[in-house]
Amino acid sequence: MEKGTHRPVLLREAVAALGCRPGGFWVDGTVGAGGHAEAILRASAPDGRLLGLDRDREALERARRLLAPFGDRVALRHDDFRSLPEILEASGRPPDGILLDLGISSQQIDDPARGFSFQEDGPLDMRMDRTQDTTAATLVNALPARELAAIVARYGEEPAARRIARALVAERAREPITTTGRLAAIVARVARSRRRTRTHPATRTFQALRIAVNRELDGLDRLIEQAVERLPPGGRIAVISFHSLEDRIVKRALRALARRCVCPRDLPLCACGRPDLARLLGRKPVRPGAEEARDNPRSRSARLRAAERLPGGTS
Ligand SMILES: C[S@@+](CC[C@H](N)C(=O)[O-])C[C@H]1O[C@@H](n2cnc3c(N)ncnc32)[C@H](O)[C@@H]1O
Repeated sequence: MEKGTHRPVLLREAVAALGCRPGGFWVDGTVGAGGHAEAILRASAPDGRLLGLDRDREALERARRLLAPFGDRVALRHDDFRSLPEILEASGRPPDGILLDLGISSQQIDDPARGFSFQEDGPLDMRMDRTQDTTAATLVNALPARELAAIVARYGEEPAARRIARALVAERAREPITTTGRLAAIVARVARSRRRTRTHPATRTFQALRIAVNRELDGLDRLIEQAVERLPPGGRIAVISFHSLEDRIVKRALRALARRCVCPRDLPLCACGRPDLARLLGRKPVRPGAEEARDNPRSRSARLRAAERLPGGTS
C-alpha cells in the first residue's frame, strides 16, 4: 500500500453493522481521512447525514476534501469522541448509528513529523491533537522511572519494561531524548537480545507511549456506555479496535450493556429494574478476510464489535 494513504479497514462490514439507510443520522467519532464516512454517506443516500469528529485537524482537513461532494449532509468537528454525550445533547437529534475506528491512521504513522513511527527519524511527538501540550518527549524526559516502566508494561505489555525505563532515565541524564530514532535505538539496545521475533524491539514501547500521550484508553468504556444510552431503539454502535487492550475494553463494555438484567431468563418482562440496553451483533468479533489481510497488512489485527440498542431505561 502506498505510504501515507489510509485504507479503511473492515469497510463493508462496518457499514453493514451500522445498518446505514436513507434518512438516518450517523456519527463517525474517528473520521480520519473520511473513508468510512464516505461509505456511510453513500449507503444512506440521498439524505442520510453524518457528523464526523477527529482530534487531529490535519485528518479533518483531508476528510473535508473527500466529503465535500456530500455538501450539507456532512458536518465535521475538531473534538475528542469522549465529548460525544455533550455534543449529542446539543445537537438534539439522537444518532441512528455510531462508528469508532480506534487508534491512529496510516497518514499519522507514515508522517515522520508526527513522531509515531520508529521506521523513520522524527521529533518524539505522537500527539493526535497537536494543540495538546504533552508529547511523547514530555513523558520520556520527565516521568520517574517507575511511572515510565508502568506505562510501557501496561500499554505495551512489554516484558522488558523496567530495563527500558532505566535505560531511558540514564540516557536522558546525558541528553534529553527528543527524536524517535534515538528512542528506538535505546530501546533496541535493551530489548533486542532477548527477543526472537520479526517485530522491531521498540514496537511495544512506541505503542505504549502513544496510548499514554493520547490517553487512548481512558474513559473508553464509559463513552461506549454513554453512546449506547443515547441511541434510539434499533440504533447501532460499531467499534473497530487494533490491539488486545482496546478490544478487551470494547468487549467488556458491550457485554455489560447486553447483560445488565438479572431476571430469570423465562420472565417475560424485566422486573429487576436494569433491563439490557443492547443486543450484541454476533458472538465473535468480525475479522478481516484473507483478501483484506493480504491487501492491507495493517488490517490484520482489526476486530469489529457491534451492538444494537434495545428499548429500555438507562437508570
Ligand atoms: C484508524 S483512524 C480512522 C480512519 C477512518 N475511519 C478512515 O476511514 O479514514 C483513527 C482516527 O481517529 C482519531 N482519533 C483517535 N482517538 C480519537 C478520539 N478520542 N477522539 C477523536 N478522534 C480520535 C485519530 O486522530 C485518527 O484520525
